[in-house]
Amino acid sequence: MTEIPLTQSPATGLSPAAELSAVRSAATRIQPSVAFPQDRTCPYHPPAAYAPLREGRPLSRISLFDGRGVWVVTGHAVARELLADPRLSSDRTLPAFPAVTERFAASRNRRVALLGVDDPEHHVQRRMLVPSFTLKRIGALRPGIQETVDRLLDRMAEQGPSAELVNDFALPVPSMVICALLGVPYGDHDFFEAQSRRLLRGPAAADIEEARDQLDAYFDSLIDRKQKDPGDGLLDELIHDQLREGRADREELIALATILLVAGHETTANMISLGTFTLLRHPEQLAELRAEPALMPAAVEELLRFLSIADGLLRVATEDIEVAGTTIREDEGVVFSTSVINRDEHAFPEPDALDWRRSARHHVAFGFGVHQCLGQNLARAEMEIALLSLFDRFPGLRLAAPADAIAFKPGDTIQGMLELPVTW
Ligand code: HEM
Repeated sequence: MTEIPLTQSPATGLSPAAELSAVRSAATRIQPSVAFPQDRTCPYHPPAAYAPLREGRPLSRISLFDGRGVWVVTGHAVARELLADPRLSSDRTLPAFPAVTERFAASRNRRVALLGVDDPEHHVQRRMLVPSFTLKRIGALRPGIQETVDRLLDRMAEQGPSAELVNDFALPVPSMVICALLGVPYGDHDFFEAQSRRLLRGPAAADIEEARDQLDAYFDSLIDRKQKDPGDGLLDELIHDQLREGRADREELIALATILLVAGHETTANMISLGTFTLLRHPEQLAELRAEPALMPAAVEELLRFLSIADGLLRVATEDIEVAGTTIREDEGVVFSTSVINRDEHAFPEPDALDWRRSARHHVAFGFGVHQCLGQNLARAEMEIALLSLFDRFPGLRLAAPADAIAFKPGDTIQGMLELPVTW
């Protein structure tokens, strides 16, 4: 009889460690899984139904709208490891790429610049834009951001003593700032804000396609106009340095402008509205911040962690990946639930407390790895200036409706407030 070495299993021929991993992997695959995404039960906490995901850290299974089972990453250390792993692809045109909604699935054949491409193509696109988003370049925009914020607050004060904060403040601040940065006329904001809304949460499958077509046509004609009459925005620089020099084609420029415009206003607007709501619901922390405004940069990091508004970053494995004693197999979908990752008590003690004194900067609210948010310095500057100035100007700011009657966004999109009635 041939002796089987003790390091191998007679049944599988695998080493004990590999066998354990295979068993764990198979067991995890058949575990009943949590449906993802789900609506939050409270606008600033992860959905209550995600509780099993917190218990199952660092990796669990979830089921998507189409019944497909995929991995969900919920542990902070494993999330950073996997977000930096080039074997996980962001290319949503790959057939196995996971879709979290039906409308997302229907539009997956469209290329999305930066967010939806892998290196080396991704690196080439990112390199064109990085110089415009450095700390120094964004620092130079701060006085302009302050002016925009002050103007909007003046208007609120004139029209007050009440306002709908999403439309009167949280949305126009980042919208005006990204327009100025890109060189897009703010006069067109009704159009592109509406298209962004359709892109991110239009109810019909056709909404994403139609919104993309509209934005493509808009930027196509804006580029025409700018070629005849150049301005001094980032889009003008790209036309001059990339398009004219043949380093990028028109289609690529349109795709880059679209992602910057959409990512540049929707996300930050949600952070300002939901951040304000969260502060109003945490009066002690708000008082602490008022007494010590120098805490604001730390408070912004903590709010980013606590609110995790982009909850569900998507990838697909292009090879088998061994991680945390499990194998993620080629073509399996992987979702990063930032709201659960950012409540990992190993990385953030007492994770459900809102605490300005903690050091929260290692959160993954901006992602991690090569796709980490390009606009994070800009977003931080906007949030700091907007929140400080708002509470400074209106020390008596309060909700103008019961908190539980105020509508917030559904779970399948960037989290935020649909409306925020306030008074002072
Ligand atoms: C508080 C506001 C913001 C949040 C929470 C946020 C969040 C994120 C996250 C999580 C990612 C990574 C996605 C992934 O890995 O799949 C990302 C990428 C990105 N964000 Fe932001 N973002 C914010 C503001 C902005 C702003 C103001 C801009 C302005 C230009 C911007 C532009 C981008 C771009 C271009 C990418 C793609 C980067 C790449 O793939 O290389 N974001 N953002």
